[in-house]
Amino acid sequence: MSNLEILELDPADGDLVSGAFEVLRASHAADNPDSPAPHEGKFAKGLVHPTPGEQETTLIAVKDGTVVGVAEIGLPMRENLHFGWAEIHVHPDHRRQGTGGALLDHFVAYTRERGRTELTLDTHMTWEDGPERAKTGQEFLEKRGFKLALTSINRRCAVDALDPATEQRLLAEARAAAGDDYEIVSWIGRTPEELVETMARIDSTILAEVPLGDLALEPETIDAELKNAKADRNEAMGVIPIQTVARHRASGEVVANTAVFAYDDTGYTDAFQGITIVDKEHRGHRLGLLLKLVNLELVRENFPQVRAIWTDNADVNAPMIDINVLLGYEVVDALGEYQIKFPS
Ligand SMILES: CC(C)(COP(=O)(O)OP(=O)(O)OC[C@H]1O[C@@H](n2cnc3c(N)ncnc32)[C@H](O)[C@@H]1OP(=O)(O)O)[C@@H](O)C(=O)NCCC(=O)NCCS
Repeated sequence: MSNLEILELDPADGDLVSGAFEVLRASHAADNPDSPAPHEGKFAKGLVHPTPGEQETTLIAVKDGTVVGVAEIGLPMRENLHFGWAEIHVHPDHRRQGTGGALLDHFVAYTRERGRTELTLDTHMTWEDGPERAKTGQEFLEKRGFKLALTSINRRCAVDALDPATEQRLLAEARAAAGDDYEIVSWIGRTPEELVETMARIDSTILAEVPLGDLALEPETIDAELKNAKADRNEAMGVIPIQTVARHRASGEVVANTAVFAYDDTGYTDAFQGITIVDKEHRGHRLGLLLKLVNLELVRENFPQVRAIWTDNADVNAPMIDINVLLGYEVVDALGEYQIKFPS
């Protein structure tokens, strides 16, 4: 262990950035190869363009000049100042030598020094009859006193999971249920300027609306400036939002929203479902299903390389899961969010 060094990764050091990515690539290939692979360009660019509103730091564990472990740390800086999260990966050839433990110690020290009292880390877990996942991550975290706080289920849907006739029938039914009160608007890339304010309003309700298990997270206030900064980051990383919303004609407000994120890389065949949210006052009109179906068509037309869309939902989020099952989403595995709390 004596020759193990823990360093902050300098985004300008190409060799160390490649070394860190290699750990993520190998960890994914060993543990959950059927989940979407990490993307090197997005990883490298994400280091240079950190998430707005968060302080992000990547720690690396280096042994004899080789990167053997990575801890990606995030601290929210606007709300949730009690909170800190990380993802830790150790290269499969270098496990069980104390590297994960050393990275975890650094993460705890780093966050505690900055006054954070609730820390989370996540790990893949087997779910139902999906592919078997190693229990390593769970055992590692439980041994260190972390407790399972939230279980999210990862589901995958082929972009052509539904036969066209079924898809058209569902679309027609959803349109009929939504009626004429809503204008459906779609775009690819940045939010149109005239919708930024109303989109920021609906985005601000997200954390109050999604099930968070035992995680005590307060809602984020997302203003136009933060929304634009997030769009700048996506552009810089080559992440392209495909978005469909329902605008309530009477008030002009966006009252429902769904987004899928694809990568600007014709070789990358996965895309990611972002949040889908329908304002409380406008639920029960099939807007969630309608927006997802319209958006799916847009993904197929504009991103022919995308073969599957991935989503994760809290295991208790029945209304969203019902829609996803109808669309053809199938369970792959679960992500266990483990938490530890310290006195402040
Ligand atoms: C979890 C992970 C980070 C552990 O890294 P590591 O360098 O092997 O961890 P350490 O050597 O510091 O192990 C610390 C302790 O965790 C527990 N542990 C680690 N691997 C284990 C395994 N395969 N089975 C049972 N316990 C295990 C042990 O108690 C171990 O102490 P010990 O070796 O003295 O018995 C690594 O397996 C990994 O990258 N997994 C995939 C990613 C992941 O799930 N990360 C989430 C956890 S943050």
